[in-house]
Amino acid sequence: MMKKTIVFYYSKTGSNKFLAYKIKHEIDAEIEEIKPRINSHILLMLGFSLGIKKLKNNISDFDRVILCGPVWMGKFIEPLKAFSIKHKNQIKELIFVTCCGSSYEIKEKKFGHGRVFKKVESLFAEKCTHCEALPIALLLPDNKKQDADLVMYTRLTESNFNGEFLEHFKLFISNISG
Ligand SMILES: Cc1cc2nc3c(=O)[nH]c(=O)nc-3n(C[C@H](O)[C@H](O)[C@H](O)COP(=O)(O)O)c2cc1C
Repeated sequence: MMKKTIVFYYSKTGSNKFLAYKIKHEIDAEIEEIKPRINSHILLMLGFSLGIKKLKNNISDFDRVILCGPVWMGKFIEPLKAFSIKHKNQIKELIFVTCCGSSYEIKEKKFGHGRVFKKVESLFAEKCTHCEALPIALLLPDNKKQDADLVMYTRLTESNFNGEFLEHFKLFISNISG
């Protein structure tokens, strides 16, 4: 039987929101936005713990939670962390996915998504069954993948949701569907 799944996402500039909705449609999940109690990006980026608003959905009704959001400064960002700490006990299974700036090559470096994966895995222990990164570089041609400015300003949208990025997205969907 299909696992009853809900996607919770936080997104500042839209890429992770777009990704979250793609996942929702692909696996027929529910979806809800994580809303910080005070949506000050500066305070959130500095890592201030502002808490999140009460959720509309009851997590206990779901077999599986997919958590989706960006990486900032190599950190498991505050809204995702606040959500995780608050609801960890109600979550039966967790998958983490991020559309982030760091490529697979620099995964384990200072600002790489690998550090965030370790945080998520240590927080959720055996409940965390999968962590996935879909780096922005997958949207760029080979000669532009290292262009840090371009990586920072490129957003995931319907018009670039194709090619290498789409291949990795499909692989992710098949991995979590098996
Ligand atoms: C202030 C700031 C810091 C960032 N730091 C990192 C980082 O350390 N590692 C990383 O992989 N991406 C980093 N990024 C890139 C974001 O993760 C990426 O742009 C993401 O797709 C934005 O998601 P959103 O559009 O859903 O907000 C950073 C972006 C910003 C704005």
